[in-house]
Amino acid sequence: MSRIDILVGTTSGNTEYLADQVQEQLQQAGLTTEMHYEPDFDALTEQAGPERIWLCLVASHGAGDYGDSMLDFAEQLEHRPPQLSGLKYAVIAIGESCYDTYCAAGRDLDQRLNDAAAMRLLDRLEIDMMEDDPEQLTPIWVQKFINICV
Ligand SMILES: Cc1cc2nc3c(=O)[nH]c(=O)nc-3n(C[C@H](O)[C@H](O)[C@H](O)COP(=O)(O)O)c2cc1C
Repeated sequence: MSRIDILVGTTSGNTEYLADQVQEQLQQAGLTTEMHYEPDFDALTEQAGPERIWLCLVASHGAGDYGDSMLDFAEQLEHRPPQLSGLKYAVIAIGESCYDTYCAAGRDLDQRLNDAAAMRLLDRLEIDMMEDDPEQLTPIWVQKFINICV
């Protein structure tokens, strides 16, 4: 069965908290996961292949920048675009709709992974921290993700 790498882009910890809950749900469904609180671009792209699934949870900061823990990964992704054919992925984008650059980091990541020939398993979930309840919204989306993975 595929292994799910959970990639976390956070600055102030909200996304890390959410990622921990997502990991618990995946594990309860019998899936194997590995958490990457500071995703390592080289290691992850080297291991990427048909047996891997990336589940990316990314908060937007600054003017649509990635959360701090994923800034380095994002820079590498932009400047050294990898070939990720075979890899499957899905993105949860976290942001606040008061920003013009609402969920820009998650949208950017989704686009770049798609450009790298990775296969999107599920449409991106966008969580508006001003309006939505992430603890209600996320498990429903994650269950769809699980149904695709198992
Ligand atoms: C300084 C700052 C800049 C932000 N910039 C954006 C932004 O450009 N786009 C967006 O959608 N949300 C933005 N947000 C909202 C964050 O994405 C939101 O607060 C999120 O919960 C932070 O997640 P984290 O705790 O995992 O870092 C910003 C928040 C802060 C504090």
